[in-house]
Amino acid sequence: MDEYKICIGSHRVGDEELELLKEVVHSKWLTSGVQVEAFEKEFAEFAGVNHAVAMFNGTVALHALYVAMGVGPGIEVIVPSFTFISTATAVLYCGAAPVFADIDPDTFNLDPASAGEKISSCTKVIVPVHYGGQAADMDAFMKLADEYGLNVIEDAAESHGATYKGKSSGSLGDAAIFSFTPTKNITTGEGGMVTTNDGALADELKLLRNHGQSALYRHVRLGFNYRMTEMQAAIGRAQLKKLPAILGRKKEIAQFYEEKLSPIPGIKPPVESGFGIHPYMIYAVKVIESEAGISRDELMSRMEERGIQTRIYFPPAHTQPVFIERGMGDVSLPVTEMVAGQVLCLPCHSKLTDADLLEVTGAIEEALG
Ligand SMILES: Cc1ncc(COP(=O)(O)O)c(C=O)c1O
Repeated sequence: MDEYKICIGSHRVGDEELELLKEVVHSKWLTSGVQVEAFEKEFAEFAGVNHAVAMFNGTVALHALYVAMGVGPGIEVIVPSFTFISTATAVLYCGAAPVFADIDPDTFNLDPASAGEKISSCTKVIVPVHYGGQAADMDAFMKLADEYGLNVIEDAAESHGATYKGKSSGSLGDAAIFSFTPTKNITTGEGGMVTTNDGALADELKLLRNHGQSALYRHVRLGFNYRMTEMQAAIGRAQLKKLPAILGRKKEIAQFYEEKLSPIPGIKPPVESGFGIHPYMIYAVKVIESEAGISRDELMSRMEERGIQTRIYFPPAHTQPVFIERGMGDVSLPVTEMVAGQVLCLPCHSKLTDADLLEVTGAIEEALG
């Protein structure tokens, strides 16, 4: 990332994290221990749930959760294609089939109507992803789940700090996963967390992440080593304290972008659903070529030339070779395909200065003439 003058993301890991890390380094225990337990407790409080189970990263958190919910051969899991690949590949880890559904053209979140159309007798789980952090329309998914007897997993990997109708993301479905990679609003380098109010599910996840071990060297399940380390948890605890300040700056950034970009023909700033707080892990605009007079890809290269990093979050999963070669790519998702051709994600992290923001919006104005 360092070659860019203005990066797409940047973390706020510093002295506060170092203080806690020093404690860990001088302690006797480096794998899961007191820091992990404390991080789980603090994260559960933050998300407003009874249980948080720390995992090594968000992808394995998804895998463990799918396994715990009985996802396996012959089972279908409904996911958006417009997401990071592991929402769907973790379904393959279980020998099950991801079924791709379409998204809402404004929020880019899973469309409940499209998800509803994909339900079959094999469906067990629906996974709304909170795209860019903004919560999906969870009431609609919970209603579907109720009607068809399904589970709902929130993929809240990007969603630290989001709310929906007054409740935190991570507390809205049967369970949720978070990720703590460095572009997220808070990071542990690598890291993941499952949140849930279901105590039996939390216990099962604790078994699964630690080799299915119920007592020392007694293995009652086929489990994994998905444990979070004390170093990750120590960083996470300090990061959680910084989240309010990070979210505050992100809100200012989003307001600044909205003001500057709204008047520009062909640039459509993100749409807030009105359901609650958008934590802006991602700031995704749509570039409408016919109005902008320039293609999204051309705009991206012009910004790159000025040292401004942008990204396309995400090329649709169903267009990736890993799904095409399994015969899962042949699905019609017109909104996903349209949005994937228009979306452009701008730098959005809490260290951006007002001058940086002016440079980003100035570069867009200049490129569009
Ligand atoms: C929507 C979504 N799901 C899952 C993940 C996977 O998390 P991790 O990278 O921690 O494995 C990510 C991470 O980028 C994500 O954005």
